[in-house]
Amino acid sequence: MQAYRASLLHFLDDPDKLGETDSFEYIEDGLLLVENGHIAAAGHWKELSKQLPEHVSLVDHCGKLISPGFVDTHIHYPQTEMIAAYGEQLLQWLETYTFPVEEQFADADYALGIANCFLDQLAACGTTTAMVFGTVHPQSVDAFFSACERRNLRMIAGKVLMDRNAPEALTDTPDSGYDDSRALIEKWHNRGRLRYAVTPRFSPTSSPEQLKRAGQLLAEFPDVYMQTHIAENHDEIAWVKELFPQCEHYLDTYDQAGLLGRRSVFAHCVHLEDAEWKRLAETHSNISFCAASNLFLGSGLFNLKRAVEHNICVGMGTDVGGGNTFSMLQNMADAYKTQQLNGYELTPFKAFYLATLGGARSLDCDDLIGNFLPGKEADFVILDKQATPFLDFRFRHCNTLLEELFVLATLGDDRNVLATYAAGKAIHHRDKTNEAMA
Ligand code: GUN
Ligand code: ZN
Repeated sequence: MQAYRASLLHFLDDPDKLGETDSFEYIEDGLLLVENGHIAAAGHWKELSKQLPEHVSLVDHCGKLISPGFVDTHIHYPQTEMIAAYGEQLLQWLETYTFPVEEQFADADYALGIANCFLDQLAACGTTTAMVFGTVHPQSVDAFFSACERRNLRMIAGKVLMDRNAPEALTDTPDSGYDDSRALIEKWHNRGRLRYAVTPRFSPTSSPEQLKRAGQLLAEFPDVYMQTHIAENHDEIAWVKELFPQCEHYLDTYDQAGLLGRRSVFAHCVHLEDAEWKRLAETHSNISFCAASNLFLGSGLFNLKRAVEHNICVGMGTDVGGGNTFSMLQNMADAYKTQQLNGYELTPFKAFYLATLGGARSLDCDDLIGNFLPGKEADFVILDKQATPFLDFRFRHCNTLLEELFVLATLGDDRNVLATYAAGKAIHHRDKTNEAMA
């Protein structure tokens, strides 16, 4: 058994549902007990330390804050090398930067190298679970899942489906996309901590036939996920209207193929019509709020208030490489600024909820991760408020928990991530090299 003494913060419910103060547990002098990769207990040092068994190894992180690992509900691992690409909005950005980079993932060794680099970055930012796009190549997903399996990470990923409006080297067909996805599901879905997501990139790059075959997979494997993009950019939406005259709106292109539901995650949702909000809610579909990406690609401002009003499950996504950071803390800052422009106050409590339990709920794995209830998987991050002299100075001027969390969310980044644990094992330590931890 391992024991970690520090401040603890975790959420029990959505602050918009349970009310701010009842939605979370904050223990200033806390103790987190981990056994066999799971949470054994989380409580007050004063009480829990009295009953510590003899064989326990105690790590003293007094002054640090332990949070459940962050959950990134939308990200592209093949785009790691082109994060921070200059000067384009969505459709030109895909043509200019994204597609050329994704062509390289036909090479399995190349894919494995990028997957490892990507997972190092996630760990350095405190992210322990993500919903991840591969490329059209099945070997890109084999490489990614192999790298995750070695680190024992809870991850969801899938092979991109694209049968039109993309370079020849990046397209499949309705049949080959179906067959390749099916083989990957059979190989990887529910293997250890891994799960599969059927992954039509977005409606412009899939024919109605291909979307139907994706729906067929979901019908045949009901516990498999679906991830895609929607209503990110005005030109994209106009293009979808041209390509799918038979559909009522953008969401309908997915709905007609049977792609909505509890395990479906729609990234962006920036420019939804009323009927689309309603239909997402009716079908218990989930939204990934990609704040950094929506600002970086000039896509627009996601309306979080409407999602709350419709009772739609929302998580946060970095959308790397559309987003210019892997850090969920930096995404919280962009989420706050986005909602400022919408006239809606995003509290730091809601921001930390979205990045942890909210993300776990929108990936339908809150029975396994997202907070520190006993029995959950021990994925957690140790946050250091004193990461730099200036941060230390700023935190010393905080008077309340709200203020501290808000400063962490709006000034914080990977420097504040002292260590990251997956299933109870350290996968990152800021002050050690990866080799030193192996
Ligand atoms: N829409 C279709 N493909 C993509 C992608 O790779 N990134 C983003 N941000 N939007 C998309
Ligand atoms: Zn994306």
